[in-house]
Amino acid sequence: MGKKLIELKGVTKVYDDTAVVDNINLYINENEFVTLLGPSGCGKTTTLRMIGGFEKPDQGEIIVNGVVVNDLPPYERPVNTVFQRYALFPHLNVFDNVAFGLRNRKVPKDEIQVRVTEALKMVSLPNYATRKVTNLSGGQQQRVAIARAIVNRPKILLLDEPLAALDLKLRQSMQYELKEMQRKLGITFIYVTHDQEEALTMSDTIVVMRDGHIQQIGTPFGIYNEPKNRFVANFIGESNLFDGVYVQDHLVRFMGNEWDCIDLGFAPDEAVDVIIRPEDWDIIPAEGAKLSGPITSNIFKGVHFELCTIINGKEIVIHTYENHPVGEVIGLKVDSFEIHLMKVPQ
Ligand SMILES: Nc1ncnc2c1ncn2[C@@H]1O[C@H](COP(=O)(O)OP(=O)(O)O)[C@@H](O)[C@H]1O
Ligand SMILES: [Mg+2]
Repeated sequence: MGKKLIELKGVTKVYDDTAVVDNINLYINENEFVTLLGPSGCGKTTTLRMIGGFEKPDQGEIIVNGVVVNDLPPYERPVNTVFQRYALFPHLNVFDNVAFGLRNRKVPKDEIQVRVTEALKMVSLPNYATRKVTNLSGGQQQRVAIARAIVNRPKILLLDEPLAALDLKLRQSMQYELKEMQRKLGITFIYVTHDQEEALTMSDTIVVMRDGHIQQIGTPFGIYNEPKNRFVANFIGESNLFDGVYVQDHLVRFMGNEWDCIDLGFAPDEAVDVIIRPEDWDIIPAEGAKLSGPITSNIFKGVHFELCTIINGKEIVIHTYENHPVGEVIGLKVDSFEIHLMKVPQ
């Protein structure tokens, strides 16, 4: 990964007396694919718009290449933005839509020809130059919007839920294409989504946000496996959460049992949140198991089965490759390193 390219220092944005982005600190490296992830209303778009120059922070600094850009308008920043609602020019064809920015900047005609052709190839629309944009599907229009941004060869590309309107199949193939494009062009991507799977698939780094605050910054692997709190654990992937008590080092109590664990750094008798991912349970015979209960549902998910059981009134989700019928009484075991403990939010 390259050097630090963008930095947000204590950035705050207030609307109607509410800090919708509240004192966030973040840096983004050259060529990094960073995703802002969080539920609707958590401040993702506002953060992106401040980086792009469409909103001004009320406090803090936005630094690009070592220069504070707070007062620079969007067109003076090395940034291009693809908005959630891409506004193509309906009266222009695909080529002219993509060429628009270059013409404005008085780029020579033959260079425009080369660059637009290249950009359309990049978004898999090489033969669409003369088509009317109004005759394209939603997915194709979105690709034109992306081509229109990359043709400017920005150092930084901001994308606000660019695939949200597409159906699942197209969304998945576009995820792959965008990721490829980013690798090939060496552009820094700042990507906004509320879709955790999309974030996990595409990103080098995920920034999990909630109510204007950053909850956690990390790699997809790190965030999935070591969520910092209950919110992140719940938001990323599926999880089973239990109220627990830290008994002593390497020992935690939950669901009426004591379990070996590997997490350290909690006080004796401290309340902890315990998370166990559905795929980390092992099904064992019910006799002698610390947890046992009947299977209450069984859904085939294509690769695995999603089983539910209810034990002491608590529903537990299990992902397994083995099929177990509803009604079967199973026992559950979990390896010590698959038990993850988190601080309880104050
Ligand atoms: N121009 C605005 N005026 C007032 N409130 C706004 C404005 N833009 C966003 N908000 C509010 O700020 C919060 C964060 O919005 P936004 O950044 O769009 O969230 P996200 O993109 O994560 O869904 C929301 O509560 C939203 O209603
Ligand atoms: Mg948004």
